[in-house]
Amino acid sequence: MPQFPEGFLWGAATAAHQIEGNNVNSNWWVHENEPGTTIVEPSGDAADSYHRYREDIALLAELGLNSYRFSIEWARIEPERGMLSRASVDHYRRMVDACHEFGLEPIVTLMHFTVPRWFEREGFWRASDAADLFARYTELALPVVESGVRYVCTINEPNIAAMLAGGEDAANLVAYGLPRPDLGVADALLESHRRSREVLSQVPGIKSGWTIATQAFEAADEPGAEEKRREIGYSAEDWYLENAAGDDFIGVQAYTRNIVGPEGIRPPADDVEKTLTGWEFFPPAAGIGVRAAWELSGHVPVMVTENGIATQDDSRRIEYTRGALEGLLECIDDGVTLLGYQHWSALDNYEWASGFAPTFGLIAWDRETFARTPKPSARWLGEVAKSNALT
Ligand code: BGC
Repeated sequence: MPQFPEGFLWGAATAAHQIEGNNVNSNWWVHENEPGTTIVEPSGDAADSYHRYREDIALLAELGLNSYRFSIEWARIEPERGMLSRASVDHYRRMVDACHEFGLEPIVTLMHFTVPRWFEREGFWRASDAADLFARYTELALPVVESGVRYVCTINEPNIAAMLAGGEDAANLVAYGLPRPDLGVADALLESHRRSREVLSQVPGIKSGWTIATQAFEAADEPGAEEKRREIGYSAEDWYLENAAGDDFIGVQAYTRNIVGPEGIRPPADDVEKTLTGWEFFPPAAGIGVRAAWELSGHVPVMVTENGIATQDDSRRIEYTRGALEGLLECIDDGVTLLGYQHWSALDNYEWASGFAPTFGLIAWDRETFARTPKPSARWLGEVAKSNALT
């Protein structure tokens, strides 16, 4: 039976804004509640994980997982420019403590798309002091990291964040319509990442990196398609993977593939199986992303920080995940250093502009009582984690 490496980090991932609820000082909250917004519904209470985090962490541990990737919210820690909320810092310290109490390795993301409303208002990633502000936020968040965190993801999917800032509306954020990235923003995100890593390096033993949305671009069998694939692939993905060289690890977030014709990215063909987000059901995406990250970063250790599908048919989630893990075993076999696998997502969550309909969770919850119900896929992944092997 093929085994995963010893100490492999088996977990599930979430992002603060997508599960906490009432993240009222964040820029997304503003957009969700704007008149005429294209966002289908506001996040509201979400899964109320801000209050129910202990229960969520206990549940993940009980299932058999040994890690939990979650994000801390800049808009809560610094709700107004220069104003530190000690209470919010304490909240996230308690989350780290709860992870330790239940035997989970906490993997903390500093910025998962959302920023404080004041940061967006004052120029967002185009502000000349954006990297200074992100470095300062990292300092404010240090007590959370110092309470026993080993892995920190600085910026979630800078390659998607740069496209969002390229003038697209929120509805396109995760729709992989892939508008042109804003290169000024990409540079600011890279500088912010590096400045943040510098701050984090004060913490002994800390490992930091950024997490990239890998997109398995594949050229159609047509003249001009390969050139187009290279062009899109470079600015949407490769540049970010190359710039992880020298980091402690690199996060890979893989969901599907994208076929590129000479004209650009094509929507998935009519006859392929699609998930609730309209993406092709394509389990090899994780392995393809991991190989790309490993090669282009010059062999930085890789962690799958997100992988999963939105579906109502939980048996497809198991099939998808099994296929993804088979691909990862092949990567390991070929010598890639793979640190762990974080399934997206622990809980059904607020899927940004698409609202709550696309269900990515291993765990469902009741919209009125917030009662949690693990799906069969959660138990299945827990068993895989416990045996550290695909059975
Ligand atoms: C993001 C998550 C999102 C997931 C599914 C990733 O791009 O990091 O926030 O929910 O994809 O769309």
